[in-house]
Amino acid sequence: MPFQELINNASEKLANADRLVVLTGAGVSAESGIATFRDAMQGLWAKFNPEELASPSGFRRDPKLVWEWYEERRSNVARNRPNPAHYALAELEKIFLSSNRKFTLVTQNVDGFHMQAGSNNVLELHGNIVKNRCFREDRLLSDAEIERETVPPKCKHCGSYVRPGVVWFGENLPQDTLSEAFEKAEKADYCLVIGTSGLVQPAASIPVVARQSGAFVVEINSLESAITPISHIFLQGKAGETLPQIVTEIKKY
Ligand code: OAD
Repeated sequence: MPFQELINNASEKLANADRLVVLTGAGVSAESGIATFRDAMQGLWAKFNPEELASPSGFRRDPKLVWEWYEERRSNVARNRPNPAHYALAELEKIFLSSNRKFTLVTQNVDGFHMQAGSNNVLELHGNIVKNRCFREDRLLSDAEIERETVPPKCKHCGSYVRPGVVWFGENLPQDTLSEAFEKAEKADYCLVIGTSGLVQPAASIPVVARQSGAFVVEINSLESAITPISHIFLQGKAGETLPQIVTEIKKY
């Protein structure tokens, strides 16, 4: 089927949906200049061993290396901006809410670009790279609670190292956020999955649960992914080009 026809079909269904769940992954931020995790050659994990850098044991082994790696990623996020995919999703939220329909955006991304683009209700499954947590007490720390004389800096309350507010390998996802995401997936009648390889659990189960509960599943990805086999429509293309087309289409209804 021609691509435009697939866009039209996905948009028509979306225009008639009542409860939308969107799941985003690193591909949504690729056009903002943030490296994805698994894209060959340029993915972050192609250059580093994730167990080394993104795990509690890696942090215990070499806190300075891990902290500096995250500082680099933070400054990359600070240097870059949301792209048309993020803005299209913020617009989609407004369209849904203004017509009293349910909209939930679940993201695996830690860059905060969805909020920067104007999305209001974002479930961040893997945390947020701008935030800081106490490594020992595992609670969020404000700037005033951080002593910055060492690398990594230290928690003013207990003297232990500060860590980035993201979920690492081997750690649990924030329980309330995760429960809410699955609850919304079970109730959804439409699930839009964008720019994720669908290889990391539990996030990858969100579209599966939505589909099993009767939702229409549409995927946008530049390549086929683990989600493609369960999608009703696969839109092969860049998120920053495809999503604005869908938003333009649904405004016609
Ligand atoms: P991946 O790097 O695994 O997958 C990125 C996906 O985006 C791939 O399927 C690409 O084909 C697709 N893609 C790349 N550029 C795109 C574009 N411009 N438009 C549309 N699609 C594009 O990233 P995630 O699936 O997000 O977790 O990875 C999931 C989790 O794995 C991450 O949140 C991270 C990592 O371990 C933690 O750090 C806890």
